[in-house]
Amino acid sequence: MKHPVALAAGDGIGPELVEACQEVFQAVGAPVEWVETPVGRSAVARFGEELPWSSLETMKELGVVLKGPLIAERLSGGAIVRAPNGTRVHPSINNGLRRELDLYCNLRPVRGFAPVSGWYSSMDLVIVREVTEDIYSGIERSIGEDCAEAVKRITRQASRRIAQFAFEYAVRYGRRRVTAVHKANVLHKTDGLFLQCVREVAASYPGIASDDRMVDAASYYMVKDPAAFDVLVMPNQYGDILSDLAAGLAGSLGLAPGANFGEKTAMFEAAHGAAPDIAGKGIANPISLILSGALLLDHLGEREAADRIRLAVELVLAEARVLTPDLGGSATTRQLTQAICLACEKVAA
Ligand code: NAI
Repeated sequence: MKHPVALAAGDGIGPELVEACQEVFQAVGAPVEWVETPVGRSAVARFGEELPWSSLETMKELGVVLKGPLIAERLSGGAIVRAPNGTRVHPSINNGLRRELDLYCNLRPVRGFAPVSGWYSSMDLVIVREVTEDIYSGIERSIGEDCAEAVKRITRQASRRIAQFAFEYAVRYGRRRVTAVHKANVLHKTDGLFLQCVREVAASYPGIASDDRMVDAASYYMVKDPAAFDVLVMPNQYGDILSDLAAGLAGSLGLAPGANFGEKTAMFEAAHGAAPDIAGKGIANPISLILSGALLLDHLGEREAADRIRLAVELVLAEARVLTPDLGGSATTRQLTQAICLACEKVAA
């Protein structure tokens, strides 16, 4: 039986990456049936809105989504959702999607690959980012013309929930340490509450080591000694920034997969954005979304297919012959995808 999976190709390089991921799924015979659920610019073209209710309904019904990156306007905007019970406005399209699907955790495993990641080849860390609150709550206001402020909201419920996720993840995937990242020496009440919650939850997991780092020091150690980290749990904004930093250390955002989890729905997407600077050129690195696809297959219980994909990616990167320009090569998205598909066939299940 095939698993129905909602598919949103996204904007910019999104459609190119989604096509690559679908080809690799075919190469490993992943039993998935795609159900199109457009959001973003393609949805505007078809339905006149960015987040059509019909797409959101199907995503919720199927419970599993593969999504390409979406373009969010820089200085204006907000995403509007016309739900049957009223209209809601979210700070951005990605934020809106996560809120509408009730997703609270953004998981970003970032690892290095020999030889393309150089000194960072042995880096292997997992960022667990809370995505429902913090400074991205979208509670902002202007005070006159020369001042503006935003609210950083942290709650016990959301902090405990994300800490629980991080420790459960560590147990399930054989990780040894969970590090809380915060700035509780300045933000005593908000980050202080977050840290306190992580410590409380840590007490229920004696088999997993736990510690904490201030976000500035965490950035330093991530660059200097990434092996010091295993699983990291943090509020929304720090997770957003540190996951891109980690991807940069690994060599490219194009190597960084991601997943979002809620109680009922899971959405899989690359850690990066729509990369408008290279969109349509056929040179985007598809590995980020292909590895996000492997996380999706793990979630569906298709572990064998997921492991084959991961091994194939590792083999192709180890050979370092077919690399896209972000990794210093001159291969196209198609050539790298084909190399991964061939490697999938070689890698015995
Ligand atoms: P970006 O992540 O799209 O790109 C940053 C840099 O990384 C660019 O030079 C880009 O070419 C490169 N890059 C990203 N992915 C790559 C890949 N797979 N292969 C090779 N190079 C890659 O960040 P940017 O330019 O700030 O944002 C572009 C748009 O994406 C914005 O509208 C932003 O709001 C949106 N965005 C969407 C996200 C999502 O849908 N989850 C996440 C982050 C940004």
